[in-house]
Amino acid sequence: MTSFSERLKTRIPNGSRFLARAYDDRRHIAYDLLPVLDLKGRETVAKALRVIKPHTRDFTPSDRARDLDAQLRRDGITAPQPPLPAHVLNDLVAYFKTEPCHDRYRPHLGQFMWDRPASDDSNIGYFTYEQVLRAPHLLDLMNDRLLLETAELYLGAKPVIDNIGCAWRFPGRETPKGVQRFHRDFDCARNVKAFWYLTDVTETSGPHAFVRGSHVDPRLDIGKAQTDAAIIDTFGADSIVSITAPAGTWFLEDVYGFHKEQLPVDQPRLLLAVEYNLYPSSLAPRHPVMDNPGGYDRYCNRLFLR
Ligand SMILES: [Fe+2]
Repeated sequence: MTSFSERLKTRIPNGSRFLARAYDDRRHIAYDLLPVLDLKGRETVAKALRVIKPHTRDFTPSDRARDLDAQLRRDGITAPQPPLPAHVLNDLVAYFKTEPCHDRYRPHLGQFMWDRPASDDSNIGYFTYEQVLRAPHLLDLMNDRLLLETAELYLGAKPVIDNIGCAWRFPGRETPKGVQRFHRDFDCARNVKAFWYLTDVTETSGPHAFVRGSHVDPRLDIGKAQTDAAIIDTFGADSIVSITAPAGTWFLEDVYGFHKEQLPVDQPRLLLAVEYNLYPSSLAPRHPVMDNPGGYDRYCNRLFLR
């Protein structure tokens, strides 16, 4: 078990940097301090938030939402769900093949197309919030009733849509970077994330991996990425679920549990992800980026839609 002071030192090695980040955007305070809490502390915070946050009136979730919620509570991840309708999937892929992406960690490379990465050192080609929100069907997808109901069941209060992202993962890279190493997400005291595979994902095209049960397991909660060896040593190889599935398949995950994207070997992979939180993290834009075209819940969409 990791001590409080170890966690504090890992997450806040530099007090003045913490203060500067807090001054720049106060949402950083919760983001930076959350990993200092242990699992019990996180749960206490989530419990308190559940009481004060809004709830859907006359909330009557479907049986399917209740089933997904039960899977999340038990394993931290749901089984892969039936693929999106073909026309929705085709529209999304066509859109993300015509939009330029960028390397978040090498902004000097500028924009590039999915099939012409600007550098062999770029593992991931990201799209901006605005590009993702403008994608066909996107608002409907992230506001899907089943997802909002499951998120509200799991979070215990109405969800805030936060940290949406879509990116290409390029094959042939040898060094895992960032989210390609096992890590826990500390975006919120309780969160659930939806992942959509927009391309076929086989063993050699970068399947998502999750450590089953680690969402309620305090081991290795120091707040930094872990090697495969450390994960296997701690949780056992049998606990790692690797998801291969056809394009359009989606699943939900409590991203406090250890997860990573495996490196694609021979095929690029396109993945869309949307996080549902109890409160806004510093990963969402500071201001909404689009007008609400109508029909989308104002509270759930308030970080992205005006
Ligand atoms: Fe993550």
